[in-house]
Amino acid sequence: MRTTVLIVAAGSGSRLKAGVPKALAPLADGRTLLEHCLESVAAAQAAGVLELNAVAVVLPADPEAAAALEQVCRAAGDRAGFTVRCVPGGAERADSVRAGLAAVRALADAEPAAGADTDAEPGAEPGADDPDTPHAVLVHDAARPFVPVAVFQAVATALGKGAAAVVPAVPVVDTIKTVTGAAPGPEWVSGTLDRAGLRAVQTPQGFDLTALEAAHRRAGSEVPAGAAALTDDAMAMEAAGHPVELVPGDPLGFKITTRLDLMLANALLAPAAAALSPQEQHP
Ligand code: CTP
Ligand code: MG
Repeated sequence: MRTTVLIVAAGSGSRLKAGVPKALAPLADGRTLLEHCLESVAAAQAAGVLELNAVAVVLPADPEAAAALEQVCRAAGDRAGFTVRCVPGGAERADSVRAGLAAVRALADAEPAAGADTDAEPGAEPGADDPDTPHAVLVHDAARPFVPVAVFQAVATALGKGAAAVVPAVPVVDTIKTVTGAAPGPEWVSGTLDRAGLRAVQTPQGFDLTALEAAHRRAGSEVPAGAAALTDDAMAMEAAGHPVELVPGDPLGFKITTRLDLMLANALLAPAAAALSPQEQHP
């Protein structure tokens, strides 16, 4: 199915404290998180697991950071041979996704019909610009630099079989407690969830584009706490009553949130980083 990848990269990275918006934070090889993320999308396309239409990237409002990230996008798009469209994001992740979805819709509608034939008979197969032709969107965090091709493949395959919402998931390794009370007072355990029935979900999350647009519109007006309460896009689909299919995620799909995550990412890059000269490592 024709697919547009939507990368959300507009967050500030307040927990990472890198001094720059998180997508612009470099790993030990000197490349930014966004560049790594775009490279994993390019790898999925090169492996033939995505019928990629284009990539939309949602960027921070800060003009300097946005200009630097736009440059990263342009270079990655040129290298991989796909279109990258950049748009400014919003205050919460869900606001950024909504801004990005508008760009994705424009990119999907602008695509010429596959095998377009201007002399096509009336009643022929609908083209890509036909509103009835399904189009998929993969919503992906720029903060996940190492998602393996197999995860893109699992999401795309489930979408191709007709699922409207697909999320990669991994088992939960910690014991999860529910609590009462809140800081600055003490918290108390109110229960323990059955870990066997819990999953941690990752991105890319795949959706039927039309269904996700409607779900986000609905969530925007109906979810009580608004955009801040929507920590992923599957939540909007759940609220709209869509079944959400799980496919295997991968530990390498982890999100960079804190300095510790950054240290792990850099450790994973160590062989490549060691191959660089000291000057290249510390330009
Ligand atoms: N994101 C976004 N727009 C926002 C908030 C988040 O596009 N207003 C993106 C981030 O850039 C990131 C992804 O959503 O790729 C996951 O968010 P998170 O890990 O929370 O990143 P930040 O919000 O940047 O980090 P923090 O919450 O620590 O400030
Ligand atoms: Mg955040």
